Parts: sequence; structure tokens; C-alpha cells
Amino acid sequence: MASETVSFTCMKDITQKDWDLIVREHEAHYPRHLADDVLDMLKRLKGPKLGFQVDRYEHSLQSATRALRDGADEELVVVALLHDIGDLIAPENHCDVAAGVLKPYISEQNHWLLKHHVYFTGYYFFQFVGMDRAMHKQFVGHPAYAATKHFVEAYDGPSFDPKYDTLPLETFEPMVRRVFARPPHSQWRETRGAA
Ligand SMILES: [Fe+2]
Ligand SMILES: [Fe+2]
Repeated sequence: MASETVSFTCMKDITQKDWDLIVREHEAHYPRHLADDVLDMLKRLKGPKLGFQVDRYEHSLQSATRALRDGADEELVVVALLHDIGDLIAPENHCDVAAGVLKPYISEQNHWLLKHHVYFTGYYFFQFVGMDRAMHKQFVGHPAYAATKHFVEAYDGPSFDPKYDTLPLETFEPMVRRVFARPPHSQWRETRGAA
């Protein structure tokens, strides 16, 4: 039996019944679908090490492992796991990808952390490209400054070590699914989780 579909082929003809159907379908499928897609993005980081001693996938798992062992809460562990998922599709602004994908499901602090983490990792390499390695200091006083600095110093920065006892994806997958199952903040709806 064919699944139920909307009546319109052009958005200007949408009805309330169509809208209700779309909402039901999204609520039924989106959490799993989103988590699957994001995990696929993460797995696509497996591959060339690009001169590093670990590939981007292991770097991600290792960052999440360090966060978990540091006692970070589940949301921050997931943030650590996914912080570089934009590396392939947006090498010049990879921070914006994880920040944008996760924004509806995480705190403002963790969104800021994701969006700005390169200014803090840049402390280690900006001087090699003629930039000011202290660029992150422009954000001193921001509520997420200390957390982002700790994220980079304790999770992201050290996670290029092939000898580290990195936990497998199976450890983190249920956490990713729980985060994406949260009622999302919406860009165009006023309140979190509004129908
Ligand atoms: Fe990064
Ligand atoms: Fe990273």
C-alpha cells in the first residue's frame, strides 16, 4: 500500500491536513534519520591521515573518549565526537557545520564552543600561516570561553595519538541518538518543541 502523501505539488497549495501529515511524519522519522545521517558523516572521516598519525575519525572518537573520561556530561561528549564532522564538506569553515547541525539540540554554550573552537586550536598553528595565535583572546570574558579552552586543551588538542586507548563508536552511538531525540530548538518557531 502506498504511503500517505500530501495533496500539493506546489507549496502555495498546502492545506492544514497536509501540514498535519508532514508534522506527524517528521516526528515519527526525524530523530532516527538525523542521528543516522550524522553518524554517516562521522564515519566518512575514516580515510587518509593527511599527514597526521590518526585519521579524522579516530581523532573524533579520541576527543569523545577524553571528554567521557574527564567526566563531561553526555551532551559535551557528543559535541566532542561530532566537532569536526564538517572537515570534508567545509574545510575552510568546518566549525560552522557541526555548530549548525547540532544547534537545535544543544545548549548555547556548546553551540558557541563548536562554532569558535578553531580560534582556540589556532593557538597551536596560526603562527605557521602568518596569523595571530592569540586570536582566541578576543573572546576573553565570553561565558563559553573557559569551557571552549578546556575542550581544546583537554579533548581536541591531545587527540592525535595513535597509542591512546580510544573507545569505539558503539560507546557513543546511544548518546548521539539521545541528543537527536530531544525536542529541538527551531530557527523559525518561537519555542523549543512547539508543535
Ligand atoms: Fe576542528
Ligand atoms: Fe578536532
